[in-house]
Amino acid sequence: MNVKLLNQPLKQISAELTLEFVTPQALEAHPHSALLAQAGFKADQEQLCALHEHRLLICGIDTVQSDEMYRSAMAAAIKAAMNYTYTSLKCAQYSPEHFRALIEGVVLGSYKFENYKSEPKPSKLIEVIFSNDNNDGTSNTFDTLEATLHQTLIIAKATNFVRNLVNQTPYDMTPQMMAVTADQLASSNNLECTILDVNGLEEEKMNAMLAVGRASHNPPRLIHLAYKPANPKKVITLVGKGLTYDSGGLSLKAATSMVTMKMDKAGACAVMGIIKAVSELKLDIEVHAFVGAVENMIGGNAYKPDDVLVAKNGKTIEVRNTDAEGRLVLADVLGYAQENVKSDYIFDYATLTGACMVALGPYTTGVMGHNEALKQEWLSAAEASGEYCGILPFNRHLKKLIKSDLADVCNVSSKPYGGAITAALFLDNFIDEDMKQRWVHFDIAGSAYTEGAWDVHTYGGTGAGVRMSMEWLLKLNTQGNN
Ligand code: BES
Ligand code: ZN
Ligand code: ZN
Repeated sequence: MNVKLLNQPLKQISAELTLEFVTPQALEAHPHSALLAQAGFKADQEQLCALHEHRLLICGIDTVQSDEMYRSAMAAAIKAAMNYTYTSLKCAQYSPEHFRALIEGVVLGSYKFENYKSEPKPSKLIEVIFSNDNNDGTSNTFDTLEATLHQTLIIAKATNFVRNLVNQTPYDMTPQMMAVTADQLASSNNLECTILDVNGLEEEKMNAMLAVGRASHNPPRLIHLAYKPANPKKVITLVGKGLTYDSGGLSLKAATSMVTMKMDKAGACAVMGIIKAVSELKLDIEVHAFVGAVENMIGGNAYKPDDVLVAKNGKTIEVRNTDAEGRLVLADVLGYAQENVKSDYIFDYATLTGACMVALGPYTTGVMGHNEALKQEWLSAAEASGEYCGILPFNRHLKKLIKSDLADVCNVSSKPYGGAITAALFLDNFIDEDMKQRWVHFDIAGSAYTEGAWDVHTYGGTGAGVRMSMEWLLKLNTQGNN
């Protein structure tokens, strides 16, 4: 979708369809109130009414105060508009602070993934034009809104880039293809890119990651993308779980739980999307994105429950369940990342546990770590960005649940509750002492993928992690060198 901002009153902009948002309170005063009442339109949130004879699409909205309501209303409106035959749509501002939400509604709400359809049905609507003026006729500072448009488009498009990667089948998006994709991103965005194949992983002693990938015909890859501006204010490391498929391995998943496990690479895709947006926004922050791209399969050479693995940092891991593979991959990638880059913060993104969904529901990302203030910063960033986050707290008793009688640590908990937290506490074993307070783990198991439309999302990958991370990074970027 082509999104434009014009420094003209709405009336002077030529477009085939006009979109208006109306609250229940403002309905009576609307020029077409009688017509709308006849159509049974009550201006409920996301309720739509098309007055085609007036080339008008009216969308209900609960309150004019909420970004979230504008974002999801715009997404609903744009989806409806894409089913008509109009090629262009125009819309006024509803106070400048909601412009970002409206743009996100357009770009994220109009997203369609049709790579696997034999007959894709592209929508006729190709252009959305925003007026610089508010719907009450007052005007805004054009430069400010233009800057908002520029920034929001980059972030929303990076989110769609992540969705496109997540939605590809495990046959198409293998660890090798993840590496090829990273390489292409590096060329187009001027990033440094290092890829380790099996030989490289062996040299680096990344035996936990190698064990997970051993039974697959698609060998693992470690990907390191780096964005290095001239005088960075901070250095940030991002680590993503990139299971291009998670069958569970010998601890095989049940048939119904295996479906959707192509999405187990969503953390990896998210960190690639974040570094894409950071480089396009030219932030003064050095960002390193590390991805462990692996396929967890079965076979005669598969790693087994009862195996003991020696991770990159030398710690030994008792494997009791091969389906808790993400933490094994992350153990090595976290080790590699910390050995190679001295950074101010390290954040990891992973579809790590079903337990996170049990704890927080299917829409919310779990936030875990040792630094309370830092976790709060992330909660605020997520809220401002339109993503849902919730903190899952550590405690010393939960830590005991992953003790091993045989090795240094066990890859699963001895109790069936609190699985998202015990997984994070497992990762804690692979965070260096000086990074403990600088680390946050994001469990995106629920938020990264959806099989039903909600908010600005349609079936498939949601791009979880990108918008909230850009919010946090943009704030860091403006804070200066403290
Ligand atoms: N990739 C899964 C977690 C997952 C489940 C993500 C559902 C998204 C939706 C992960 O590798 C896994 O299988 N975790 C196990 C851990 C268990 C064996 C301790 C789980 O959550 O059941
Ligand atoms: Zn698994
Ligand atoms: Zn997994």
